[in-house]
Amino acid sequence: MKYFIETYGCQMNVHDSERMAGLLEQSGYDPADSDRDADIVVINTCSVRERAEDKLYTRLGEIKEMGRDHGRDPLVVVAGCVAQQEGPKLIKRSKGIVDLVIGTQQVKMLPMLAQQALSERPPAGSLWPKADGRIAIDNPYEDPSFPLGVVRRGDPVRSYVTIIEGCNDFCAFCVVPYTRGHERMRSRAEILADVREAADSGRREVQLLGQIVNHYQAPDDPSCDFPALLEAVQEVPGIDRIRFASPHPRHTSARLIAAVRDLPKVCKHLHLPVQSGSSRVLALMRRRHTREEYLDLVARIRAAIPNVQLSTDIIVGFPGETDADFDETLSLTEAVGYHGIYSFKYSERPNTLAAKRMPDDVTDAEKKRRIVALQSLQRSVQSNLFQRSIGTTHEVLVDATSRRHEWELTGRTSGNTVVNFPGPPEWLGKLVDVTIRRAGPNSVWGETVM
Ligand code: SAH
Ligand code: SF4
Ligand code: F3S
Repeated sequence: MKYFIETYGCQMNVHDSERMAGLLEQSGYDPADSDRDADIVVINTCSVRERAEDKLYTRLGEIKEMGRDHGRDPLVVVAGCVAQQEGPKLIKRSKGIVDLVIGTQQVKMLPMLAQQALSERPPAGSLWPKADGRIAIDNPYEDPSFPLGVVRRGDPVRSYVTIIEGCNDFCAFCVVPYTRGHERMRSRAEILADVREAADSGRREVQLLGQIVNHYQAPDDPSCDFPALLEAVQEVPGIDRIRFASPHPRHTSARLIAAVRDLPKVCKHLHLPVQSGSSRVLALMRRRHTREEYLDLVARIRAAIPNVQLSTDIIVGFPGETDADFDETLSLTEAVGYHGIYSFKYSERPNTLAAKRMPDDVTDAEKKRRIVALQSLQRSVQSNLFQRSIGTTHEVLVDATSRRHEWELTGRTSGNTVVNFPGPPEWLGKLVDVTIRRAGPNSVWGETVM
């Protein structure tokens, strides 16, 4: 029996897919090369924006067609955030293509439920924690300390370790608290065990995951907050680099800034989602910080860590966002000088405060105009920063061989810039010094220092 998993959305989902793969392999399934030779196809979905959700229905249609053309009928499992949000409705809406729906907190039940569904077919089965299918937080199957099960890590260099699941912030636009449930902290002991396991398996980089990582407080150690956790991870032998995503601006304390500055393994990069440059829109979004506070935080970070690189997430066209508000987003983007941004057109999500109370009143054409303007500004900011980096030398962790040429490697600097350079495939997972020679739009080219 073979399985195939495809993953949409954030690193949380990438990591959940690694856990599902580990669990399925432990139960005797082998990985398939494509959905065509799989007996089980798992689609791990994202519902953060409507377009992400639409992809699920497109994929389900394709899978049905593939089955018809090749006379196959794999067990189709939908997991992840759309599964959590839609629940059993998915089975009906997909007209029977979906056999099984797994909520975000039931990953560990996948092998058992898949077995059951396979033996019961037809009819299609489903298991859902709550009949109303809204916030499935009180899950009877969830172990209080939720050991996350076996992991089959998909990346040879980078390892993901979840430190916090869920979120209690309820930003007005965001579906995540509804799809991932309330905030739960994993214990320090379990996190460190996972980091050691990742190091022992040869992974050089660890990425600590959570919706607001810097909200971390260990349930098993009152003295262990997020900076203290970074100190503890720093001590794990075999790990060369520590990254984390995402910190929230309002919890970015002086201690955290000092930890990023002082701990040598912690990368000098902060992904600090700002969402908007207008304090008025930030208040409507319930982000609980202002433009001024954010800019002040950026100034303090830059003063403490001069070579730090920053990146962010920005939403354009949030309900009520005027041209003047958007201009503030442009001016903030320019003032901060991000090395990278992820920009999104606002998309109304079920259950959120914005969906209930704030009409989606910026037209799609206007959202499009704004995102194009923002991305074009960012291209010029980024290109200036990349140009300025020509001639500088950086330690790069090699994380992949290029898809274009066998002799070309790619890796990242501590600041998270993607660097392409010639080198042998054996360097995968190694730290090498690279001098930057040429700048492209999203990455730079260099050569190793001899
Ligand atoms: N926990 C992270 C965000 C996770 S969601 C934080 O608080 O920063 C990832 C990104 O998706 C968000 O930062 C936001 O920019 C974007 N996003 C979330 N909901 C959205 C929506 N309804 N429409 C458009 N973009 C959205
Ligand atoms: Fe969503 Fe806000 Fe929580 Fe981030 S902090 S996951 S944006 S509710
Ligand atoms: Fe998407 Fe869920 Fe992550 S909605 S962004 S996969 S937490």
